[in-house]
Amino acid sequence: MIRARIAGTGRFLPPRVVTNDELAVRMDTSDAWIRARTGVEERRWVEGDVGPAELAEHAARAALTNAGRSLSDVDMVLFATLSPDVFFPGSGCLLQARLGLGNVPAMDLRNQCTGFLYGLQTADAFVRAGLYRCVLLVGAEVHSSGLDVSTRGRDVAVLFGDGAGAAVITPSDDADAGILDVLLHADGSGAELLMLEAPASRCNPRLTPSMLEEGRHYPRMDGPAVFRRAVERLPEVARAILARNGLTVADVDLVVPHQANLRINAHVAQALGIPSEKVVHTVQRWGNTTAASIPTALDLAREDGRARPGQLVLVLAFGAGLTWGAALVRL
Ligand code: ACO
Repeated sequence: MIRARIAGTGRFLPPRVVTNDELAVRMDTSDAWIRARTGVEERRWVEGDVGPAELAEHAARAALTNAGRSLSDVDMVLFATLSPDVFFPGSGCLLQARLGLGNVPAMDLRNQCTGFLYGLQTADAFVRAGLYRCVLLVGAEVHSSGLDVSTRGRDVAVLFGDGAGAAVITPSDDADAGILDVLLHADGSGAELLMLEAPASRCNPRLTPSMLEEGRHYPRMDGPAVFRRAVERLPEVARAILARNGLTVADVDLVVPHQANLRINAHVAQALGIPSEKVVHTVQRWGNTTAASIPTALDLAREDGRARPGQLVLVLAFGAGLTWGAALVRL
C-alpha cells in the first residue's frame, strides 16, 4: 500500500496586528490577564470584508510552491473551517474558483480546531486509495468579524485570531516516510460547551432580533470545562496513537499541537514528559486560529528548521464538537 506524505506547506496571516492593549480599550480586560491565562500576546485580524477563502488562497499558493507543484496538479480541495465565508456553498468551492481549478472537486470539513486533522485523515485515505494524487488541504478562519468585543464576550474574544495554513498531500516515494497514522475522536454530548448557535437552520426564523440582542450569534464557551477535557483527552490520544504504532514519547522529535491556550499545551507536554523545546508554540503571536493553527505552526517549524526531513512529528488537536485527535507524520 502506498503512503501519503505532506509534500509542502504554506501559511498566510493577515498583516494587521491586534495587541492585548488594543482589546483592553474595548472591554474590561488587561494585557496581564490575557498573557497569564492564555499566553496570547497579540493576534492578527483582517481589515474590512475579507473571508477565509481569500486568506486560504495565499496559503494554498505558498504551499504549492513549497511542494514544487502547480495548480494544474491539484485534483482535490479539502477546506477545514468553522467560519465559512457564507452559510453555503462551502469555502472549498470559493477557494477552488479563486484558484481557477476548473472542475476539480472541493469539500468542506466542519470539525473546528480538529478540522485540519480530520482533513489530514481524509486526504491520507484518498491518496492511499489511489483516488487522488495531489490533495490541497487548507485550514482557514476569519474569527474577528464574529467576536463579541465587549466585556460580555471577553473570555472568547481575546483568544481568537484570523489566518490560513495549507498542506499539499501526495503519494510518498519513501515507504518509511509520510503520514503514518491519524486517530480521530468526537463526543457530541459536549457540543453545548462551545458553540455558535445562530443563525440556526433548526430555528424558524433562523435569526431574530432577540437572538441578536442576547448575543447568540457570537461563540459562547464554558472555558474551564473545555480546558479540563482538553488536558485529559490530549495526553490520552497521544499515548494511544504512539502505542498502536509501537512508538514511545522518546521517539517523537517534534510536537505540533493545536494552539488554543499556552497553558493547555504546557499541561499536555508535562503529562507526556515532553520537553518544552520539542513543542511548537504560535499562540503568543497569532492567537487561536482554529483549523489554521496546525498547518501554520507546521509551516513555521519547517521554515525555521525545527521540522526536518526524517523527523517524527506528533500532531495533536482538541476543540468544539467536541472533537479531538492525533497524527504521526514522518517528514
Ligand atoms: N479578561 C479578564 N478577565 C476575564 C477574561 C478576560 N478576557 N475572561 C474571563 N475573565 C474572568 C472571568 O469572568 C472570571 O471572573 P470571576 O472569577 O469574577 O467569575 C475569571 O476571569 C476566571 O474565568 P475562567 O473562565 O475561570 O478563566 P480561565 O482561567 O479558565 O481562562 C479561558 C479562560 C482562557 C477561556 C480558558 O478556560 C481556556 O483556555 N479554555 C479552553 C479553550 C479551548 O481550548 N477551546 C477549545 C478550542 S477553540 C475551538 O474549538 C473553536
